[in-house]
Order: sequence, then C-alpha cells, then structure tokens
Amino acid sequence: MKITVVGAGAVGATCADNIARKELCQELVLLDIKEGIAEGKAQDMMQTATLLGFDTRIVGSTNDYAKTAGSDVVVITSGLPRKPGMTREELIGVNAGIVKGVCANILTHSPNAIIVVVSNPMDTMTYLALQSTGLPKSRIIGMGGTLDSSRFKYQLSQQLHCSPSDLNAVVIGGHGDTTMIPLIRMATWNSVPVSQFLNQEQQDKIVKDTMVGGATLTALIGTSAWYAPGAAAAALVESIVRDEKKLFTCCVSLQGEYKQNDICLGVPVIIGRNGWEKIIDFQLNETEQQAFNKSADAVRSMNEVLKTL
Ligand code: 2OP
Repeated sequence: MKITVVGAGAVGATCADNIARKELCQELVLLDIKEGIAEGKAQDMMQTATLLGFDTRIVGSTNDYAKTAGSDVVVITSGLPRKPGMTREELIGVNAGIVKGVCANILTHSPNAIIVVVSNPMDTMTYLALQSTGLPKSRIIGMGGTLDSSRFKYQLSQQLHCSPSDLNAVVIGGHGDTTMIPLIRMATWNSVPVSQFLNQEQQDKIVKDTMVGGATLTALIGTSAWYAPGAAAAALVESIVRDEKKLFTCCVSLQGEYKQNDICLGVPVIIGRNGWEKIIDFQLNETEQQAFNKSADAVRSMNEVLKTL
C-alpha cells in the first residue's frame, strides 16, 4: 500500500503523521511545492518512528510527482489556508489553480488512486477534482463533513458532559459556515435522542457553534486549524485502506440522491476499499431538505465561479 499526501503544511503534515502512526501503508510520500519543507517534515516524522513504534517509510518530495507514482490513495491538502475573518469561499481563486494542477499530476502518476480532497473551498474543490480528472465518482471524496461531524460531537459532548465517543451525530451539506447542516434531530447519546437531555436553546447553540467551528479556531490561532482536519482525512484513508465500510459524511457527487444533481455535497456514505461505495438516505424531513437545497444553491454558485477563472 502506498499513500501520498500533497501539501506539507500543518494539515497535510498532521494527516501524514496520523497515517504513519496508524501504519496504514508501507510507503507514505509527503509532497510540497516549497523547496525542502516536505523532505524536512518527512525526516522529522521518521525520527519519531522508534519512539512511537511505527514501521511506515515516509518520503519527502519537492514537487517531484515521480516519487508518488502508483499511490493507492492521495490526499490533497494544497492551497492557502484561511486567515482570521476570511471565509473558505474567498480562497477559490488561488486554490482552484493549485488543485487543478495537483489533480493533473496525480492522474499522470497514480491513475488508480482514490483521491481525498481537503483543500478549501472543499465542496467546490471536490467538484473540480471530479471534473478535471474525469475519474469515476466513487474515487473522489471530499473530507469536510467528517471533520464537521467530529466538531458537532465535540460541541454536544461539552453540553452533555459526556464522552464524544458515546455520541452519534452527523453534519451534512456544504463545508461552509452558512452551508453546513448539523442534523441535531438525529443526534443520539448511546441511541437516545439528544433532545431528551437538551432544551431548544442548548440545541440551537450547539448547532451554531458547530457551524462556525473552523472560523472560531482560525480567530484563536491566527490561521486555519490542523489537528482535527488532519485526523479527519486520515480517518477516511484508514476506512479506505482497511476496507472498514465506516459511515462518514463526505462530499461526493450527487446524481439525484438527496434531490440534487451535478454537484458535490456532504451526505452520509460508506467508505471502503473502492472509495465511497454507497450513499445512505437519512430521510430528511421537509425543513432539513430545504436547508440542504439552500446549501446546494450556495455551493452551486461557488462552482459557477470556476468557469470564470
Ligand atoms: C477547517 O474547517 C481546514 O476547512 C478546515 O478547519
């Protein structure tokens, strides 16, 4: 098994670190356009191997895609991160060009790879990856909902004073501050609906705090977060390479599912060795479907911007 992480910034490096610690592959390539950074971080991580007890070989590369050849999974984290006050959508101009170039290189060197897209604006970058590579839709997976669902569980656990691992909760829709939809109606604490423990005001606060989860961290740190985004991408890679068939919310191509077409948007999917294998219908109620349609409209207008670049 060979895995490549493109982009050795904080998110890419954290993702690579998680992949190595979990020993998801024999060879892990970390690639960046900036001279030396990927080699440096790869060496730094390799020097943790005996301390952490992993056996994955990590190779750094300055933009030499030959080193990534034959990868089974490629994670794309390249592009600019958000600065405080910035939306993910504002990054489209720069990041679209970067992601398109990365996709072309992946296609040349690893035509059989499953691609996990992390770069922002994630929904539009996933759509761009699908369009520009022409790969089967099952092999293009946007990471956003996996991260947002984890943040949703964190917010719920804070209010419920419980372990996040005892919670089941998903965020669907776009990966934008106003487009994501935390499905609180379906959230459960060990199978019991959270509405039995939380009043409306508490539920509304959890939903609101989840939606601005990334922006809150960007304001605190001064740049985009990396621990949870890196871990979320690595969790998807794990479900792929170990064929775990786990259910994650991912941004995938919709062709009629959830009443949407010609768009990549976050829905519950099964992730296994073939990429995303199945979309699960959560049977949204009318209010949730309306929110999903609104989210799709916003993402679709962002996708339109791609045509003008
Ligand atoms: C976030 O929400 C990086 O988009 C990512 O933190």
